[in-house]
Amino acid sequence: MNASLKDIKSPIAEELVIFEKHFKESMNSHIPLLNKITYYIVKRKGKQIRPLFVFLTAKMLGEVEHKAHIAASLIELLHTATLVHDDVVDDAHLRRGFFSINALWKNKIAVLVGDYLLSRGLLLAIDHDHFDLLKILSTSVKKMSEGEILQMEKARKLDIDESVYFEIINNKTASLIAASCSSGAAAVTDDADIQQKLWEFGECIGMAFQIKDDLFDYGDHSIGKPKGIDIKEKKMTLPLIYTLNNLPTAKRRYVINTIKRHSTKPKKVREIIALVKETGGLEYADKVMREYHQKAIAMLDEFPQNVANESLRNLIDFVINRTK
Ligand code: IPE
Ligand code: IPE
Ligand code: MG
Ligand code: MG
Repeated sequence: MNASLKDIKSPIAEELVIFEKHFKESMNSHIPLLNKITYYIVKRKGKQIRPLFVFLTAKMLGEVEHKAHIAASLIELLHTATLVHDDVVDDAHLRRGFFSINALWKNKIAVLVGDYLLSRGLLLAIDHDHFDLLKILSTSVKKMSEGEILQMEKARKLDIDESVYFEIINNKTASLIAASCSSGAAAVTDDADIQQKLWEFGECIGMAFQIKDDLFDYGDHSIGKPKGIDIKEKKMTLPLIYTLNNLPTAKRRYVINTIKRHSTKPKKVREIIALVKETGGLEYADKVMREYHQKAIAMLDEFPQNVANESLRNLIDFVINRTK
């Protein structure tokens, strides 16, 4: 039986109550429109998985104190900022089961709100002189921008292969989960080796997390954000890359051409999705996801075996078994 998110959260339940309050306060502004939008964001909150990684990592290695709270709020602020920007970039109008910020207030405002959240996050670290957190987080902000731009470059050229796909998802997604675990460690120890190990641990989880997200795009059930838009946006993810690699040359050319010229036609997108399913693309991506999951689980053997460690194991299971 898989543990529920509620079970997973139980060792850090008190910390999470404080987190909700900090997170909400960290966004307030005296500009009325900004307050209205951040109120909307707080109300439609996500799974808040990254703060769980911060707190559980900190608790596994020591005591959760104020610095871990700063790290958790900072990370959820940056995550929120990147989602607001990502929906502009992907022209997506649905997020967390409701309208995205760009859908309601248009792109210009969404870009500025994303910048605001990013700066509020970075200031949290600066205001408390936690420059080590600032360094960890800025590294991942840089990587996230690089990942999103590399992804756009590949959507134009359609020449992506597996290694570039891994580079993209490592940058755009794994780096923030890596930063969550590494900053959770930095909140309780100055040991650079441990912080680095926790970065690598988070990286593995983040890779599995994004492969799962890319699989959702091929699925049938509702996830609170658009589905079937990756091909429409000419975004080639692992299932499709696998399929392309296993097609005869002529058929491969046909698929690439179809994406190049007809990616906005629902019938053509359905045809490619069907082909990916027939050729085992989903099973392949699932297998790779499970390899990253196993790698992360094995890394936990090296750390103290306590309730937080146990919850982290369950949280990593949740990452690959979740339904949204
Ligand atoms: C969505 O992240 C963005 C990706 C990296 C795939 P989450 O699935 O954690 O989003 P929320 O915060 O729960 O909505
Ligand atoms: C998620 O990118 C990673 C970010 C940098 C926000 P996606 O475009 O794949 O994620 P979703 O599906 O919109 O959440
Ligand atoms: Mg998107
Ligand atoms: Mg995107």
